[in-house]
Formats: sequence, C-alpha cells, structure tokens
Amino acid sequence: MPRITGKLRISTVAGEQVRAFLPAPLPPAQPPLVIDDRLATLHAEALAALGKLAVAGAMVPSPQWFLYGFVRKEAVVSSEIEGTQATLQDVVTFEATRQAERPHDVREVCNYVDALTYTREQLASPTGLPLSTRLLCEAHKLLMRGVRGEGKLPGEVRRSQNWIGGTRPGNARFVPPPPDALPDLLSQLDAWLHSADPLPPLIKAGLAHVQFETIHPFLDGNGRIGRLLITLLLEHWGLLRSPMLYLSLALKRRQQEYYERLTAVRSEGDWEGWTVFYLQCVREAAENGVAVAERLFTQLSGDRARLLAADGVTMPAIRLLDHLPANPVVTLSLVLGVLSVTKPTALKAIAALQHAGILKETSGKRRDRVYAYQPYLDILTGN
Ligand SMILES: Nc1ncnc2c1ncn2[C@@H]1O[C@H](COP(=O)(O)OP(=O)(O)O)[C@@H](O)[C@H]1O
Ligand SMILES: [Mg+2]
Repeated sequence: MPRITGKLRISTVAGEQVRAFLPAPLPPAQPPLVIDDRLATLHAEALAALGKLAVAGAMVPSPQWFLYGFVRKEAVVSSEIEGTQATLQDVVTFEATRQAERPHDVREVCNYVDALTYTREQLASPTGLPLSTRLLCEAHKLLMRGVRGEGKLPGEVRRSQNWIGGTRPGNARFVPPPPDALPDLLSQLDAWLHSADPLPPLIKAGLAHVQFETIHPFLDGNGRIGRLLITLLLEHWGLLRSPMLYLSLALKRRQQEYYERLTAVRSEGDWEGWTVFYLQCVREAAENGVAVAERLFTQLSGDRARLLAADGVTMPAIRLLDHLPANPVVTLSLVLGVLSVTKPTALKAIAALQHAGILKETSGKRRDRVYAYQPYLDILTGN
C-alpha cells in the first residue's frame, strides 16, 4: 500500500479542470520514513563526508580561504539549475569591477549571495527572524531584487495558481497547491522545522526541501530558495559551521533524476527514494568540496612559499596574496582599499604577484586594469 502523500483539489480554471496537489504535513507517515541498512549506511557516509568538509574549512589560516569561493560556486550553480548563464568568473569580476557582460544573470547570482548573507545574519542575531518561511520570504525579496524579478511578487507568497511543466494548469505536469491553501501549508512546515521530530537532521533538511518545492509558494525562485533552505538548515542544525557545501553541483549533475525524485514523493510516496538520492548528492558534493579545498590549499601554500622566496618581495605583496581567496579578482583601487597603502606601493605589490605568476591582467587595457588569481579560479570552477 503506497502512502497517502496529500490530496487533490479539483477546480475549474478558464473552463478547464485543474487538479492541484495539497501535500500532507511532514514527516512522512503510514508508514514513517523507513531507514533500512542501506539508508543508514548512506546517511553515515554523507555525515562523515560533511565532517571532513568541516575539518577542511577549519584547518586553514582564514575561513575565507574557501568560503568566499564555495558560497559563490553554490550561488552560480543553483542559479544555473534555474537557467541563469553567469559563470563564476563573471560573478567575481563583477564584484571587483561592477561591470558585467551578462548583467541580469550576474545580478541574480549576486542576489542569491545577498539572500544567504542576510538570512545567516538574521539567524545569528538574537533579535533576528527565526528559521521560518517568513525568513525565506525575506530571502526571496533579496533574490528577486532588480532585474526580471519585479513581476514575481518579491518577498510575497503567490496569490495565483502556478504550475510546473506544460503551458497552463490544465495540461501541467504538476499543479502545486492553490493560493488559499498556502498559509496553512507553510505554517505546518514551520511547525515541523521547530518540532522535536527525532529523524536525523541531515535527512530532515532533505525532507523540508521536498515539501517546500511541492508547496511552491512563490511565483519564481522556488528552486533557489528551497536549496537555500537546505544550506541554512545544515548550519542551523549544527552539521556545518559555515555554508561550505555546494550541494547544487551534485543536484545539477543529476538534474533529471532530481526532478523525478521530487515527483515520485508526490505520486508514489517514495520519500525513501528521495532520501537515498539526496544523501548521495550530499556525500558527492562534500567529497568534491574536500578535494577542491585540498587543491586550493596546495595552490595557495605553494604560491605563498614561492612569493616569500622571490627577490625583493615586500610585505604588502604578501598581504595582498592573503587577501586573494576572498578577492580573487582585483583592481588597483580595490588593492589600495584592502592594503591601505600608497599607489606606488600597491602597484609594486600587484607587479610582484604578476611576476610570481599569481595574478594575471585580464582586461588587456592600459587603464582600469583587472587582475585575476586565475589558478585559484580555475580550480574552483573545476577547470
Ligand atoms: N516535478 C517537480 N515537483 C516539485 N518540484 C519541482 C519539480 N520539478 C522541479 N521542481 C522544483 O522547482 C524548481 C523550479 O522552480 P522555480 O520557481 O522556477 O525556481 P527557480 O526560479 O529558483 O528555478 C526546481 O529547481 C526544482 O527544485
Ligand atoms: Mg524559475
């Protein structure tokens, strides 16, 4: 007997029959989530991989060695799942120069970073919003700010029926709940997030994502906010101390299955199938993060050693290198601000890093030059 996962509400929209789905509240019931040996092993492996990622993040001189890049990688790839075309290079270049070839797409990725930063600040502050769909609405407001988002009710739960796949609700693959059901469904989700449900928190974060996607409370941005929810929960529930995991990369590699697994929860009650898939993705993403962190570490420490051994190296040049993980693209004015030195000193530091093969001028211009820490960016991107 498959589980009952929710109920259909049939209505007529523009003369056509529409079957909207209202999910049952979490947790999965009748039967409760079955954690068999395979799932338990996978859970242990995913947890262990997350633990290694946390250690990799904590073993370096500054948390920014990886965090800046990993957060942006997640932002880029989560936005890619939505169809945004900005690359990591575009985003870090924009952050340094405020110029972009694809300004709309870059803006969307930067908005995601802002939404993550804002929600983490709220959660860390004693007077901030708790982890709740209200907080996710604030994140949505930031995500949709500016380009293309104005018509998407930024920060607000939708007031109309939406659908996934197809050209209208009548022929859609999936019709999420009608707007009048959203307040109850969202408060049930909030209540469960704060309940004492004894399921392992890593698994709970995955279940919450599915429920959020099924509710699909916004006109757009549901995927990105629902993946942000996982990031926030992993930190909030103590599985990571910073948003080091770029889960979207693994989800994107198996994007079709990702969508099929979401559908199978609704149509077959297959919460276990989703959980296996999700834990595999967590494990893969964490292992990938550890491997990339190791490569970045090797690169950075090698570059530092080479710079220290170079003739006539100056203190500002070393300090500039230490800033590069969180500023992998720089301009002269940025270096002036970061080092608080005179222009000749800043130019000398940049030149020293260029000479050591660390920075590369990428604009090809005589003025407004742009310097990238290309080896670092290539490792981060996976090139
Ligand atoms: N069959 C499905 N059932 C439930 N959710 C789905 C399904 N297919 C895709 N999704 C979710 O919907 C998201 C897309 O919704 P959308 O509002 O456009 O978000 P975004 O703009 O952030 O991509 C996907 O990323 C995925 O998380
Ligand atoms: Mg979308």
